[in-house]
Amino acid sequence: MTRKPLHEILHLPLPEEEIFRLAAAVPEPLVGWYRQNARDLPWRREPTPYRVWVSEIMLQQTRVEAVKPYYRRFLEALPDIPALAAAPEEQLLKLWEGLGYYSRARNLQKAARQIMERYGGEMPPSYELLLDLAGFGEYTAGAVASIAFGIPVPAVDGNVLRVFSRLLAAESDVLAPAVRKGYRQLLLAAMPQDRPGDYNQSLMELGATLCAPNGPPRCGECPLARLCRGYAGGNPGAFPVKSAKKERRVEEKTVLVAACLEGVLLRRRPDGGLLAGLWEFPWAEGRLSREEAAAALAGWGIAPQKLRALRPAKHLFTHIEWRMDGFLALCGEISPPEGTALARWEELEAGYALPSAFAAFKKAALAAKEEFA
Ligand code: ADE
Repeated sequence: MTRKPLHEILHLPLPEEEIFRLAAAVPEPLVGWYRQNARDLPWRREPTPYRVWVSEIMLQQTRVEAVKPYYRRFLEALPDIPALAAAPEEQLLKLWEGLGYYSRARNLQKAARQIMERYGGEMPPSYELLLDLAGFGEYTAGAVASIAFGIPVPAVDGNVLRVFSRLLAAESDVLAPAVRKGYRQLLLAAMPQDRPGDYNQSLMELGATLCAPNGPPRCGECPLARLCRGYAGGNPGAFPVKSAKKERRVEEKTVLVAACLEGVLLRRRPDGGLLAGLWEFPWAEGRLSREEAAAALAGWGIAPQKLRALRPAKHLFTHIEWRMDGFLALCGEISPPEGTALARWEELEAGYALPSAFAAFKKAALAAKEEFA
């Protein structure tokens, strides 16, 4: 199959050789800058394959600063692949609570088990074999292969796409898979053979600091400014170009926080789909009136002594937005119906993985606990 030329994929008015020449000129100044300016991050100190892997998966969820405490806790609790493979699901989900995308935590464990079975507990030093593990895409396989094993393959994330689209002043939509592939191909052709992990991290580092998504790029300090076509054109912040995202689907619910002296009622979510297998406060579809909320509770055999409206809350997932009304039901006693459990107050924090979507209602529940004291 003949492939489309790179300048067509990236919508660039430049000959192919010029694009490759620019890409090949990046590693030297950038890695030099990185060695002077790299942040001292816990997973960089001792970049074993396991540590690099766990950090890269967590970094797909949130910012470096937010990841640090999760990373520390996770490595203390599950210091190696055998420990991760053997961890009870509740422990794993609890360690992940608040990071979101729990399927990533589950895939982490699934891959740990694959590594135990296929490779005796050692991660394979091969990009292709890594790519074949659960939860590994091109980015994660490239990051682990290059940073932990020194294999010269790229790791193309949003940071890298931003840096390169500015460098080239490329108008193509970086969210289009073909464009991403084009960048990957370009980066692969221009990979330095020496310390490729430093090169990949230098691109991420530049994209997270000087060439960041928010605020104007700090081109005055950038080691690539003299190569950068975006900078030369006067408006580097105009890149990358992204097509409009689809709007999130809005779902309205009414959350019912049923509390008594012993604890609060939680329900286990189904095993598949969003937030699979985690705990939640029971809720009903739509925005319920007080009477409707009382009727829903009665349907679960719960007769509150008091029913109080809570402040509405919302939570954004990638493709869905939850808009939640809420009621606090103060009860004399609660017999948990099927599929639910009465979480004892002293176990609510440590014993149940409750997604951050319910944070406002958890706070309301804990405040209500005081009323029983
Ligand atoms: N973002 C994702 N991976 C990273 C890394 N290794 N260093 C800095 N930022 C990152």
